[in-house]
Amino acid sequence: MDDLTRDTLLAVAQTVRTQAHAPYSRFAVGAAVLDEQGRIHAGCNVENAAYPQGWCAETSAIAAMVAAGGKRVVAVAVSADAPPGVPPVPPCGGCRQKIREFADDDCPILVTGAAGGLLAHFTLGQILPFAFGPQYLKP
Ligand code: THU
Repeated sequence: MDDLTRDTLLAVAQTVRTQAHAPYSRFAVGAAVLDEQGRIHAGCNVENAAYPQGWCAETSAIAAMVAAGGKRVVAVAVSADAPPGVPPVPPCGGCRQKIREFADDDCPILVTGAAGGLLAHFTLGQILPFAFGPQYLKP
């Protein structure tokens, strides 16, 4: 991924975060995924009055990718604000698994905040080691 694509991915995650529907937690999250065609898909968290029915920003972005015909997640950016003294916000466990469905272990997971800029950088394999994935279900 070149620097421009990386910066665009971060900026899209940061921008779409402002669209989050998070009236209950007040914790707005934005996500952007880069697909195998070089396209970027955006998503935000969408909470619900029936709390467990809400979903995460990464889930929204993956759904947008799939709806647009994307097949692989090549990189992910997440934007959320961690309180002071807490490390940058990584994808939750459920979203790590959802990313794994479409991404390889070396998929970059980039974390930014409301102020922008790269705050943390992982690979999917680092944050979801020993993952269960589609390879176990293929003949
Ligand atoms: N959230 C995300 O959107 N992505 C994550 O990876 C962590 C959590 C959302 C879910 C919920 O709407 C709010 O943040 C607080 O948990």
